[in-house]
Amino acid sequence: MDIFDEIIRCMKEEATSSGNVFVRKKDLAEFMGTPIVTKPVQTKPAAPAPSPLPPIEIPEPEPVQEKPAPVSMPLPELSNMNWQELHQCAMQCTACPLAPTRTNVVFGCGSEQTELMFIGEGPGADEDAQGIPFVGKAGELLTKMIRAMKYDRSEVYIANIVKCRPPGNRNPSDDEAETCIPILKRQIELVKPKVIVLLGAVPLKYLMGKTGISRLRGNWMEYNGIQVMPTYHPAFLLRNPAAKADVWKDLQKVMAYLGKL
Ligand code: URA
Ligand code: SF4
Repeated sequence: MDIFDEIIRCMKEEATSSGNVFVRKKDLAEFMGTPIVTKPVQTKPAAPAPSPLPPIEIPEPEPVQEKPAPVSMPLPELSNMNWQELHQCAMQCTACPLAPTRTNVVFGCGSEQTELMFIGEGPGADEDAQGIPFVGKAGELLTKMIRAMKYDRSEVYIANIVKCRPPGNRNPSDDEAETCIPILKRQIELVKPKVIVLLGAVPLKYLMGKTGISRLRGNWMEYNGIQVMPTYHPAFLLRNPAAKADVWKDLQKVMAYLGKL
């Protein structure tokens, strides 16, 4: 290496290693015959622009239920149920708006194998309290009617169109009666009586689809091969004792049919 080479090497070193440059870069480049590449200031690659945050999904809060609303469950198919299943089904029933206000479900009472069945409209206050049909004032009169027919109350079957008390002793609504009547219809199928006595306008309407109790009482009808006798309700007789004579005529027709005369 000759002296010039040595000088160039030193100049190169100086030019690149120190800020204290004694030659201008341009001059050195011309000298060297190679362009000096000025390194662009290496700035850090710009950080990628922050992408917008994905939307955060906040789940809807579950509505807080103070008390679970009473659930209304429709009646299941009853047509193959035995007494025990039917009874249990009625006891748990919430199928109509009468369920929340009842004290007891009034299913029915008496003999499950009898030739004679009585059907009323629905439980009153006494029946709701005890869970047994016809135990109030009207019930006492019905019990006397049954005795006059030469039966004991325990020998006949007694049931109602609706099994739960309509508040304030009002008549059951169409909706309530139509919702409940499958239970009664299954009771009739299981008892298979020879005669059904309908007590008043409500069972006449919902079992037979007929109106006009004062016109139709005392006239035989038929329900699924069973003889049906509509008569006045004992509660009506308590307010109108003179109508007892008519009811006695109707009941005597039933007694004659059943061989009790
Ligand atoms: N009236 C009815 O119709 N049914 C009862 O069980 C009591 C009173
Ligand atoms: Fe069920 Fe009949 Fe009582 Fe209504 S009245 S809740 S349908 S058992």
